[in-house]
Amino acid sequence: MNQPEHIIDAYHTRKWRSYGLIERMLRTYLRPYLWLLGLSVLANVIVASTTSALPWFIQQAIDKVFGDQDESMLLLIPIGVVAISLLKGAATYGSNVIMAFVGQRTTSNLQRDLFAHLVRGDLARVGQQHSGEYISVFMNDATRLRDTVNTAIINIVRHLLTVIALTIFMYVINAQLALIYTMIVIPLGLVFMHRLGRVTRKASRQGLEEIGGLSTLISETLGGLRIVKAYGQETEQITRAGSTIDTLLNYTMRSMRARAAASPAIEMLAGIAVGVIIFYGGYQSTQGNLTAGEFMGFISALLMAYQPLRAVANMQTVLQEGVSAGTRIFAILDSTDEIINKPDAPALDVKQGAMTFEQVKFAYAGRETPALDGITLDIPAGQTVALVGASGSGKSTLLNLTLRFFDIDSGRITIDGQDIRDVSLDSLRAATALVTQDPFLFDDTIAKNIAFGKAYATQADIENAARQAAAHEFIRDLPQGYETTVGEGGLRLSGGQKQRLAIARAILKDAPILLLDEATSALDTVSEAQVQKALEKLLEGRTALIIAHRLSTVMHADRIYVLEQGHLRETGTHSDLLSAGGLYAELYQTQFRESET
Ligand SMILES: Nc1ncnc2c1ncn2[C@@H]1O[C@H](COP(=O)(O)OP(=O)(O)OP(=O)(O)O)[C@@H](O)[C@H]1O
Ligand SMILES: [Mg+2]
Repeated sequence: MNQPEHIIDAYHTRKWRSYGLIERMLRTYLRPYLWLLGLSVLANVIVASTTSALPWFIQQAIDKVFGDQDESMLLLIPIGVVAISLLKGAATYGSNVIMAFVGQRTTSNLQRDLFAHLVRGDLARVGQQHSGEYISVFMNDATRLRDTVNTAIINIVRHLLTVIALTIFMYVINAQLALIYTMIVIPLGLVFMHRLGRVTRKASRQGLEEIGGLSTLISETLGGLRIVKAYGQETEQITRAGSTIDTLLNYTMRSMRARAAASPAIEMLAGIAVGVIIFYGGYQSTQGNLTAGEFMGFISALLMAYQPLRAVANMQTVLQEGVSAGTRIFAILDSTDEIINKPDAPALDVKQGAMTFEQVKFAYAGRETPALDGITLDIPAGQTVALVGASGSGKSTLLNLTLRFFDIDSGRITIDGQDIRDVSLDSLRAATALVTQDPFLFDDTIAKNIAFGKAYATQADIENAARQAAAHEFIRDLPQGYETTVGEGGLRLSGGQKQRLAIARAILKDAPILLLDEATSALDTVSEAQVQKALEKLLEGRTALIIAHRLSTVMHADRIYVLEQGHLRETGTHSDLLSAGGLYAELYQTQFRESET
């Protein structure tokens, strides 16, 4: 089982090589666009060759027009210069557009995969990381990786080719001068690039972690704003955010400084080179080995090599940032799920909907004591079974296991005789309707919230379900009725209203098996009666397993199971158990009695 910090761990332990990552990007995400990349490479070959043609034209202009006074060249050279400039512009534009498109599509595909991986992921795995961190990887890392893909390919192909082409041109003009240039600028530049890359990679990785921390803090603070205010922690939260932002600034600046150093360093190197070339070129000229045109052509090539050289020097830093981002992304994509379908798992065949638990044992990852131990119980078809027990006794866990949110360690859970691990997950979950302890509403309209999972439900179906859930009245009274937006960005509802919406959702799903975790918070008598009415409707003709927190539920249950610290202690009806005077009688006194009034 992975440890909580597994994304962060992944790049400490797995030594991703930049090239491994690029190779993987090429193999997976860039593959569909290889022909476009090919086109872009071609365009960049044109850019590189037209760029290095320019110094040649300068050389010709000086030697032929100014030196030899050759009039036939007077028109030819300018036309040539204009033509290659136009060609270069067109090729640059084309390659930029292609690369932007490829980068954008790559990011979209990555984000799609990340999202799918999260939504399909095991609860145990996904739950290890704060949602804020996922959001950060989604937004920041994915776009950073895109920028890297863009820049890396343009740099590698266009600028490197340009540098090579210009260098070749220099060698053609004068091998000795070119040798000096390649001996000074290129090796020093390489050493420098390597150093900067190391700084950037580290700062960039730490920066991305801080961004993750910041989004965690923001989502947590907004989610718990009431608690923050009630406990007077505004200043503390602001300070916490401030220090994260400062750290972030620190890392960003480190990375920026490294980037900022790259260009002047290369310019300085080039400056030295120019000085040396003027000296040695001048000497060669006095010896009659170098014409004025050749000298000018050479210097032009050298000056024109600045910008591409700078880009190539920056490449390492850009690449490292992308590697940091890519590592975090692939760490998520590479995590594997344990709760999956067996090969060719058949669909669950629900006949009556009887459920059994046989010697079920389960412990949460990293927990010593099992949350459930040796649980054997029956939920006969069509009956309502209530589960009671103190807080933390394992009631919600039992529901989680029934839906295979987690897999049990030993024993068996069956529905109509079929082990739930042998049937497909889709069919298992389609056969059950779940109402959770704290119903979750999506940031959408009431109608969409009720019809969640039933895209084709008609307005009549939705209203019918709401009526049966005793929710229709309060919905009608909302500002826009069924079209009112609820959830985080919309209207907030009371606990009882949310429960009834969740029940309406379950009624509309119309699944043969019902799993219900009653809200722990006590409802007022009116809501209580309404929820009770909604429940009765829902329970008709279904097998139901209800975690009971309300007296009316236990009274109406066909059978009650009493849990204590993961063990099954008592079984019977309300009156049986009450007269037995055991654990249930005790719980009744404390948990259920007071809601009886
Ligand atoms: N995701 C989890 N990871 C690790 N341990 C968990 C997790 N969920 C619950 N537990 C632990 O398992 C035990 C049983 O928890 P469970 O949620 O099933 O209790 P419960 O009976 O539903 O309690 P309540 O009535 O308060 O809802 C508790 O000790 C709890 O701390
Ligand atoms: Mg619970």
